[in-house]
Amino acid sequence: MVRKRYILLRVLPPMIIFLIGMLCLKNLYLGYNKSYEDKLDSDFVPQKPQVESFDSNAYVQNEMMADEKEKLHELMNSGKHLQNFDMIKESKFPKTTSSTNKQCPNQKCNFLFIKTMKCATETVVRILRKYSYDNNLNIMLPQKKRLYLAWPYLMDDLDYRLSDRPFNGLIDHAIYNKTIMNRYFPPETTHYVTIIREPLKHFKSAFSYFKIQQIAGIFAKHPLTEYLENIKYYDSIYKSHEAAHYRYCIPDGFSVTKNLIAHCLGMPLGFPYGRHDITNNSLAVREYIRNLDREFSLVMIVEYFHESLVLFKRLMKWQLKDLIYKFVNRGTYYFSLSNRYKEKHKKWASIDYMIYEHFNETLWKKIAAEGPDFYDEVKQFSHIQKQVNHYCWGLDKHLHKNLEISHSQFNSDLKISRKDCESMNISWLDKIKEKFDGDNKHVVDSRPELRRQTC
Ligand SMILES: *[C@@H]1O[C@H](CO)[C@@H](O)[C@H](O)[C@H]1NC(C)=O
Ligand SMILES: *[C@@H]1O[C@H](CO)[C@@H](O)[C@H](O)[C@H]1NC(C)=O
Ligand SMILES: *[C@@H]1O[C@H](CO)[C@@H](O)[C@H](O)[C@H]1NC(C)=O
Ligand SMILES: *[C@@H]1O[C@H](CO)[C@@H](O)[C@H](O)[C@H]1NC(C)=O
Repeated sequence: MVRKRYILLRVLPPMIIFLIGMLCLKNLYLGYNKSYEDKLDSDFVPQKPQVESFDSNAYVQNEMMADEKEKLHELMNSGKHLQNFDMIKESKFPKTTSSTNKQCPNQKCNFLFIKTMKCATETVVRILRKYSYDNNLNIMLPQKKRLYLAWPYLMDDLDYRLSDRPFNGLIDHAIYNKTIMNRYFPPETTHYVTIIREPLKHFKSAFSYFKIQQIAGIFAKHPLTEYLENIKYYDSIYKSHEAAHYRYCIPDGFSVTKNLIAHCLGMPLGFPYGRHDITNNSLAVREYIRNLDREFSLVMIVEYFHESLVLFKRLMKWQLKDLIYKFVNRGTYYFSLSNRYKEKHKKWASIDYMIYEHFNETLWKKIAAEGPDFYDEVKQFSHIQKQVNHYCWGLDKHLHKNLEISHSQFNSDLKISRKDCESMNISWLDKIKEKFDGDNKHVVDSRPELRRQTC
């Protein structure tokens, strides 16, 4: 009996991974031309997450949402996906220039959120979308059926849906670029905000989310250390043109592990091919980080999620209740790494570490400047959130009466209903799009669609 279990647990999983790997390698070498749809359907067997512990202040992993997958299928079925990336450089189309929105005093409603990949952004995004929907904000959306505003390419004037109202916000995946963003979101009236995550945790999450083990064909017992040991080699396989059919929305030549956070924040690191690359120029990197610091009102940190949210709420002059959220795919993966490998990663993604250290420091400076009642507010928010978690997702979720939370220095009396729970359990993307398209029915968009090797 014990022996049998041993065999099942110890021998079977590596064998399965090995077989999948062989299959994958064979396909790579034969250049087996599977269609993109096949790829989606035959998805690789996902690695079983091993839950180490629950860390209440560490979030979202593996957040490819059902919703996004659905959108992706829709996109693929429409047949408009990835031909080659012939990017249209010149665009001479009317620009919707933003101006202060009358409905929105005190900059309450104008924000630009840079959604960094794999940084618990799905949870934040839902908070922003719901607020935007409830407050009738005009959110910049991707063109047609696209999921991204050109990510991981720089956005262009053709990458968003036209509107005749000025835009209040941006939430979906876009690469930060000051020139482009300033054009649509004047910095005098818009808060620039993003969220980042501790780079090693970010790497572990990206490793499993982007299926690096399977796509790069790593057969070792410890895939993560094997990857770090030969990082350039595996990275080049992963981003090769031959592996394009196995990747999700990731164009050729784009590294999903090397300074991904920095790339999302617009630092020129050589992608796409031919773009300026300051990777080896630490002076230029530091200068870029200093500029980000000036341009962004707030860089939130996943590891200090509630503190970050309360800072955001104070910046935007929102209410505490606007922040109440539901975790999106929370889970912690267990991959322990020795210092040797931590150092290797630190060298590989050194710019992300520089960014993280810088903005962790500024986060605590901002908190210190808030005064002592800041902690009371964080505590109160955590208290409310805990009650909501219990009420909405806890064991007695069959109870139909409302959850009542009494007022405090930071919030008025709150009443949470079952309906409110449901509203936290949706991505709000469809609702936002529907509303946007309804509001802009009469806007004629004759611009050509940009073709890019992304979603
Ligand atoms: C931002 O975009 C502008 C206009 O496309 C470009 O000239 C500039 O180099 C970009 N900035 C960075 C840092 O890539
Ligand atoms: C940066 O330095 C590394 C190691 O010296 C080198 O391999 C790489 O080509 C350099 N990159 C650029 C863009 O100069
Ligand atoms: C962030 O900064 C704080 C305050 O300096 C420090 O205590 C903490 O260890 C840092 N967090 C991480 C995850 O590096
Ligand atoms: C939340 O949404 C998911 C996915 O749509 C669904 O499976 C689940 O039952 C919902 N949970 C609750 C408590 O409504």
